[in-house]
Amino acid sequence: MNNTFFDFYKKTVKELKENRISSAEIDAQIIFEFVTKKSREFLLSNPDCELKKSEIARIKKIVRLRCTHYPISYITGGKEFFGLDFDVSPDTLIPRPETELIVEKALEFVEANKNRELSILDIGTGSGNIIISIAKNTKSIEQKIIFFASDISDKALRVAKKNNKKHLTKISFKKSDLFSNIRGKFDLIIANLPYVPEGESGNDEIRFEPKEAIFSGRDGATTILRFLKQAKKHLAKNGEILIEADPRNIKKIQEYALQTYSDTKTYIDLSNKLRLLSILSN
Ligand SMILES: C[S@@+](CC[C@H](N)C(=O)[O-])C[C@H]1O[C@@H](n2cnc3c(N)ncnc32)[C@H](O)[C@@H]1O
Repeated sequence: MNNTFFDFYKKTVKELKENRISSAEIDAQIIFEFVTKKSREFLLSNPDCELKKSEIARIKKIVRLRCTHYPISYITGGKEFFGLDFDVSPDTLIPRPETELIVEKALEFVEANKNRELSILDIGTGSGNIIISIAKNTKSIEQKIIFFASDISDKALRVAKKNNKKHLTKISFKKSDLFSNIRGKFDLIIANLPYVPEGESGNDEIRFEPKEAIFSGRDGATTILRFLKQAKKHLAKNGEILIEADPRNIKKIQEYALQTYSDTKTYIDLSNKLRLLSILSN
């Protein structure tokens, strides 16, 4: 049997495609890279390089798993977000590209408030991708910023703490159901909480992600509305709340927020969908 990279790579891509994996080529490259520890550039420019028997066995096993639509990020244990590599596990949501918008808006808030000390809280931190991206991108400035993050899940917090160490950021973590275990006021509160309506199937991969990170009530807005009710007394004067939500619920959440808060703004994501709500305190 031929054990060259390219021969086996072609077979792998075919198998992935037959199992409706739309990113078959990329996924195959990631799997080969992950198992052989050789870069895809090296492998593709050395198509005749021989694979070890143990590597072939491992690749076959992983490909079988990927064919069930088990997410590639859980296979490799990593996901890129805002240009940084984050550890992820089946206990954390896999960071989504559209969530980078919340980081951009948070950085704009920091820039607009550069002449004062700030405290920033990320509720439902998951792998810590949002707060760590903000901390990394404000590291070089002199402003004093204190970073906090919380999650209801101990297991997700464990991954977030690992990422905090990996990126040399200084975040204080706390386990908390929304604000139940959180004291004090914050200048910026960020929340990417679960927002998919219960019972919605989504894509084939979502079923492998933690349900508590994805689903929230019949319309997907239950946790966010609970959050908004509690957040008021934790938001400092001239503070801002940034919430990511299902585009179908943004208007509803905005109307709810306007009953208690002074001003709101909405933003669209990369696919032109209303995705982010900014709420301002006076
Ligand atoms: C949609 S995921 C977002 C994860 C991460 N912030 C991101 O952007 O990729 C929602 C996160 O909120 C957490 N969560 C769900 N309900 C919560 C609650 N009541 N209080 C705090 N965290 C909660 C979940 O454990 C999960 O980590």
